Formats: sequence, C-alpha cells, structure tokens
Amino acid sequence: MRMKYFIVTYGCQMNVHESEKIAAICEKMGYTLADKREDADLIIFNTCAVREGAEDRVFGNVGALKKLKKQKPGTIIAVCGCSTQKEETAQKIYKTFPFVDIVIGTFNVSNFEHYINAVKYGRQMEILKEGEIDEVHPYKRTSGENAWVNIMYGCNNFCTYCIVPYVRGREKSRSEENILNEIKGILSEKKYKKITLLGQNVNSYGKDLTPPVSFSKLLKDICALEGDFKLTFMTSHPKDLTDDVIDTIASEDKILKEIHLPAQSGNNRILKLMNRRYTREHYLSIINKIRAKIPDAKITTDLIVGFPTETEEEFQDTLSLVKEVRYNGIFAFMFSPREGTVASKMDGQIDEEVKRRRVNELLNLEKQIQKEDKK
Ligand code: SAM
Ligand code: SF4
Ligand code: F3S
Repeated sequence: MRMKYFIVTYGCQMNVHESEKIAAICEKMGYTLADKREDADLIIFNTCAVREGAEDRVFGNVGALKKLKKQKPGTIIAVCGCSTQKEETAQKIYKTFPFVDIVIGTFNVSNFEHYINAVKYGRQMEILKEGEIDEVHPYKRTSGENAWVNIMYGCNNFCTYCIVPYVRGREKSRSEENILNEIKGILSEKKYKKITLLGQNVNSYGKDLTPPVSFSKLLKDICALEGDFKLTFMTSHPKDLTDDVIDTIASEDKILKEIHLPAQSGNNRILKLMNRRYTREHYLSIINKIRAKIPDAKITTDLIVGFPTETEEEFQDTLSLVKEVRYNGIFAFMFSPREGTVASKMDGQIDEEVKRRRVNELLNLEKQIQKEDKK
C-alpha cells in the first residue's frame, strides 16, 4: 500500500501556495493524498504567525494529534511555516509535543525531502535564517482553475504591527524570465483560466533585480502571452501603487478589474505609528485615480482596529474612510500584539473588549454598505 500524506494549511495565499510545493515534494517521494489526517502516514502543519488566534489554533491542533500518534506510532508529524520560523515558537513546539518529528522554518521547506528521510535517525529541528529563491521544485496545484504564481518573497516594509518581515525575510524578486516561463508552462496545460501573482508588496516587484524590472512591465509581458486567461495579483501597498500600474490594469483586457488595497486605518496619526508611509489623503487620491480610470473596479481592503493608543475619534476616521470609499469588501482585524514587533511594546494597548466592539461596528457598517450598494 502507498503511504499517504495530509497537509493542514493556515494563513495567507502564499502559505496555500507553499503547501502546493510541499504536496509536490510528498508525491515525488511516493506519497499519495489522504482524505483525512487520521488516514495519513505523514501529517504536515504549515503554520501562520500573523495573529495570535492563528498560532493558538496550531498549538491546539498539533496537540490533538497525541492520541493518533499513540495509536499509529509510525505516523510522521511535521510542523513548518511562519510560526516555527520564530526560534522560540519552534523550541516550544519541539519541547511541548515530543510526538512531533520535524520542526522547520519557512526557509527549510525546499529541503523537506531531506527531513522526511532523516526522521529514521531521530527528531529533526532546523530553522535557517535565510534562503535563496527555490526555482527547482514544482507545485501540485490545488486551487481549481486558478494558478498561484509567486513573483517575490519577503517584505521590507516593517509595518510596526506585522511579523511577516521577521519570518519571511527581506524582499527578493524572481527573475522575469523565470516567472514568464512558469506561466507559459501553466497555460500550456490548458487547465487554468486565472493566474494570481503573489507577493507581500507586489508593487515593489523587480526593484532588487539587475537591471530593475517594473511591476507594470511584468504585467504587460504576462498579458502578451498567448492564451485565454485572466490575470490578478495581491497584495498592493498604497505607498508603491504607481500610475503606470493603474493605467496597465485599465488598458489590459486580461487583467481583472479587482484591486485589494489595504488601508489599515483611516487616521493619519495611527498610519504614522503603523509606519505605513502614506496619509489618508494620499490613499484617497489613489482610490480616486482608480475610480476615474477603471470605473468598474472592485476595491477591497484590510483594516486593523485597536492599534495601541487608538482613540474613539481615531477609530471614527476608519469608519468614515469606509463610508467614503464604499469598498466592495473589507477584512477587519483586531490588533494582535506579535512578539518582537515595535507595536507589541507600545504603551496604550487597547482592551480586547474595546477592540471587539470596534471590529463589530466596522463589520456592521460594511454590511450596511453592501446592502445599500446591491440595491
Ligand atoms: N502585505 C500585505 C499588506 O501589506 O497589506 C498583507 C500582510 S498580512 C499577511 C494581511 C493582513 O493582516 C494585513 O493587511 C493586516 O491588516 C493584518 N495584520 C497583520 N499583522 C496584524 C496584527 N499584528 N494584528 C492584526 N492584524 C494584522
Ligand atoms: Fe506586513 Fe506591512 Fe509587509 Fe504587509 S507591507 S507584509 S503588513 S510589514
Ligand atoms: Fe502569510 Fe501568515 Fe506567514 S499571513 S506570510 S502565513 S504569517
């Protein structure tokens, strides 16, 4: 009988895509996909560290495997991803759960096969501090007609609330040639109707390449590829979203008229404390440009409530931003202090109850706008 694997993925689309790489590695090793974790000989948790809730779920779900491991001691359990990239969390998982066989970080994933093979010699834990872009491993695509394509890794922005730069390292762009070749390969399979480009800050794509390549050039070159497909991307940072990118979205038929543009807050003092490096006014000027050039654009956003020291009036500015933009969808989050980030050490942390009330108010406003705009 063939050995089976099962992957549990937390977090963003990048992690979903990374799990597609892990799946390809497992299948190359001869494993087949299990329907449920209880049937698997290899269970992998690909973790997220962006908010406390995501990390708590990892601990709960890994802990729950103790019984399964007792019943099937041969099962290999691996924990990887953004949570375990943090040395303390990796150590905690390794110590708390002696039945976990492999603990690795985000930069170790390309060597996954090595860790699986090494388990027969004992438990494995390794957290590399950085790594090169992996152009070697293929993906086992799992998102229907959509194919994810990473164009860059890491983030240089250090928004004061965010753990991502600490667990994903500095920005590194893939070469345009490698991206185009990957997409040509995807299109030649004739299964995929949509290509979604991934990066924490896609608008700064190519700045680190020699010679530099602009994001709008990359978009145009992808659109010039033959085939019946739609193109989209995430995530844009308002400080780097240039006019030429907006013009390219407007002019290229293959690009979906959807833009996810995280605002995080509608208040300038909070935006400054968040180190977002734009103002409410600048953000709104971009929205106006998008609306002028792409009248049917669907605009969505991410917002954080209860950032340290956020007053009631400052929260009202976020509500008024939502009223002004009338988004097609919002993702609202309660600020979650992440150890090691600047904001987690700030004075003036906000009570959970206040955060909950603010997030509900924001979501209710969103519901009301959706209802009105659908009329
Ligand atoms: N790079 C993207 C950006 O700049 O918007 C996405 C980063 S993160 C994976 C997705 C969203 O999680 C962010 O836009 C932010 O709203 C939210 N987020 C990040 N850190 C957070 C924290 N400490 N507490 C609450 N929400 C957070
Ligand atoms: Fe985090 Fe900011 Fe980078 Fe997005 S741009 S990943 S929110 S640090
Ligand atoms: Fe994504 Fe979570 Fe890591 S949002 S980059 S999986 S911390």
